[in-house]
Amino acid sequence: MAVQSPENKLWWNEPIGRAEMAWITIAFLWGLIMFGAMIYWHIEGEQNLSNEAYRIKPEVFAAKAEDMVAKYTVRDEGDTGIPVVHPPPGSDVYLISRLWEWWPILELEKDQSYRLHLSSMDWQHGFSLQPTNINIQVHPNYDLVLTMTPNETGEFGIVCNEFCGVGHHTMLGKIYVVDK
Ligand code: CUA
Repeated sequence: MAVQSPENKLWWNEPIGRAEMAWITIAFLWGLIMFGAMIYWHIEGEQNLSNEAYRIKPEVFAAKAEDMVAKYTVRDEGDTGIPVVHPPPGSDVYLISRLWEWWPILELEKDQSYRLHLSSMDWQHGFSLQPTNINIQVHPNYDLVLTMTPNETGEFGIVCNEFCGVGHHTMLGKIYVVDK
């Protein structure tokens, strides 16, 4: 950076050195390659889920989740009293995150797709689905929608992956994937 102003005020009219031009070209081409890689890796790498985000008030989101729970609860989980919900395939599924729980427990069918909605009632949490490599930030006032199709049966754990206070390490949830 120049400490004094340049002698020639029209510095941008001066010819560019060969080496500098070569580096500008390399940097520009590399930028294009990296831009293309983002798109390629989204499609081929299976790293980033396709998602949508909408504004929503926590109480509106909670009402939708409660409505789903009221309609599709099939049992309670052990003696925890947490409802296990089996929503119809293809439907909108709501998962609430709050201090310090994921609510309710979902039971989904293998090879069926769902629109999974995630939102927080208080502050930021992290949705980490174990043992898969899925990791999503969950914010209050945003409804994050993932279109997903579970492709294996079993019991999947949800771990909060964003530090959210003294109960952070106890913030565990569950998704069951079952055959039809
Ligand atoms: Cu919720 Cu950490």
